[in-house]
Amino acid sequence: MKQPDVIVREVGLRDGLQLVKTFVPTETKLAWARAVAAAGVPEIEITNFVPPKVIAQFADAADVARGALSIPGPKIVALAPNRKGAENMLLAGVRNVNFVLSVSEEHNLANVRKTVDQSFAEFENVVALRAERPEWKNVRIQGCLATSFGCTIRGKVDPNDVLRCVDRYLALGADEILLADTVGYAAPSEISNLFHHTVAIAAGKPVYAHFHDTRGLGLANVYAALEAGVRAFDASTGGLGGCPFAPGASGNIVMEDLVFLLEKEGLKTGVDLDKYRAARSIAETALPDEKFYGTILKAGLPKGFTPPTLAEAAE
Ligand code: COA
Ligand code: ZN
Repeated sequence: MKQPDVIVREVGLRDGLQLVKTFVPTETKLAWARAVAAAGVPEIEITNFVPPKVIAQFADAADVARGALSIPGPKIVALAPNRKGAENMLLAGVRNVNFVLSVSEEHNLANVRKTVDQSFAEFENVVALRAERPEWKNVRIQGCLATSFGCTIRGKVDPNDVLRCVDRYLALGADEILLADTVGYAAPSEISNLFHHTVAIAAGKPVYAHFHDTRGLGLANVYAALEAGVRAFDASTGGLGGCPFAPGASGNIVMEDLVFLLEKEGLKTGVDLDKYRAARSIAETALPDEKFYGTILKAGLPKGFTPPTLAEAAE
């Protein structure tokens, strides 16, 4: 498999589990991650390094991260909202940090108990970790901007505030940028506008998109982001997901349907949807009370259609 045209990143084990009250055993999380990797997904956000008293589901974050690092294939990323979380992640061996803050002051206070300025100061502390140990020198840090397209607490979020945050992240040493529609408010024209500017400002650094399908516009927004030059998307197994500190939040875009959209548009993802069924079935068995979404695994691929990823694999 050559490089994919578009990176799809599995976030089912992080975003997908945030609202799930049933603790998924560490071994089941790892079996799920192995199945996602076996299907060809090139990148997995594996867990969230937060205090267990804040989200009990991630009490095993270090064990899950350590276990995932031995899975052949995917890049392993984890989320952290502060320096402590990032340090714990690096100690567990992860070398790709996704740092989260929210553009909306109100959501940032609810989510991480800090103002946006305080969170940027924390980001500087995370960047400074690179200098603390030689083996941390090349750690890659993604700057995630939650609530980039609106917030259930504050309402509207000004796109200029988002772009100022992008500038701040880049000036402080972010290697990658992620804009998240945490609560599924965005429409394609807003996506188009903000990602065009962000891709330009990032000047070649990767820009990721993270969409929730709360109001049914998830895949329309993916298409708009693709046209704006985005080549990396988060999605989760069966569309599990949601932020526990954003009232009314619901699922991520569905990985299976995202892969279908991209491959139908001729873009290789590296993902074999048939093999991905195993990942979905592990998650469904582990979480019988959760609703799993998605249409393509039910309906099957269109007759006569060979996804470019499979066509290349057969060459
Ligand atoms: N992992 C583990 N322990 C942590 C930690 C982390 N990431 N961050 C802080 N702690 C510990 C501190 O060491 C301290 O421990 P002590 O009481 O034994 O001294 C305690 O937690 C409180 O630390 P403090 O810095 O005051 O944190 P806080 O209580 O203000 O909480 C966050 C701040 C960011 C840790 C918390 O709001 C949080 O985890 N939010 C996460 C939200 C999230 O993941 N949302 C979904 C994804 S967007
Ligand atoms: Zn999310």
